[in-house]
Amino acid sequence: MIRRPLVAGNWKMCGCRSDIQALVDGVLVGLGGEIAAEVVVCPPAVYLDQVMSQIIGSEIKIAGQNCASAEKGAYTGEVSASMLADVGCQYVIIGHSERRQLFLEQDKTIAEKFKLIQANGMIPILCVGETLEQRQSDNANDVVGGQLEAVIDEVGVNAFFDAVVAYEPVWAIGTGLTATPEQAQEMHAYIRTLVARKESGVAEKLRVLYGGSVKPENARKLFSQSDIDGGLVGGASLEAKKFVAIVKAVI
Ligand code: 13P
Repeated sequence: MIRRPLVAGNWKMCGCRSDIQALVDGVLVGLGGEIAAEVVVCPPAVYLDQVMSQIIGSEIKIAGQNCASAEKGAYTGEVSASMLADVGCQYVIIGHSERRQLFLEQDKTIAEKFKLIQANGMIPILCVGETLEQRQSDNANDVVGGQLEAVIDEVGVNAFFDAVVAYEPVWAIGTGLTATPEQAQEMHAYIRTLVARKESGVAEKLRVLYGGSVKPENARKLFSQSDIDGGLVGGASLEAKKFVAIVKAVI
């Protein structure tokens, strides 16, 4: 296998100490021994340490959901990439559509975060995705391609040797609407082609995850597409049984 599939659970701003303890316990028990996919969970920042102490000795890794675009200093409320590395994160999500839409994050800021994540020895999970309106007006490829190229222009294509891209169509996030495996595959192939035009070796190794209403019922079909290398799961990752079933859909 050139690319080991990855399944990440993005818990967003959900859970409390006790819920999270139970969720992680459930995932650990449910996953058991050998698993084909790499498994990552992305708890709210205040619970990273708690989750880290629970998963020590297991195959599960932790990730930040976001990080600051500055290294350190007077940025009230922010969490830096070095802090995330310090508590044991190996990945950090950046450019999630919720951050782009609700916090007005721009490609340039996202690229800054990308660099800081790698400078601190972690792997960025760069989210890209179009809105329903953009898809309906036939602009999905341009939007997704533009989001990706904006970061490539800043960090260079070779930086994607150690990065993950997550295609998350905005219209499929938290809506119950999932892109069909064919729709998703088409966009994933487009993303890979775009990278291949710059550096084919990077494109071959690059994991492109699908996110947007991934569930146990649709995971296998999605993950069996040739350019879909796993998933970034929101809602279903808050239930241990569902998340485990999604992870096990990678065979
Ligand atoms: P849902 O799985 O809840 O649609 O969320 C997807 C997502 O935003 C993961 O980052």
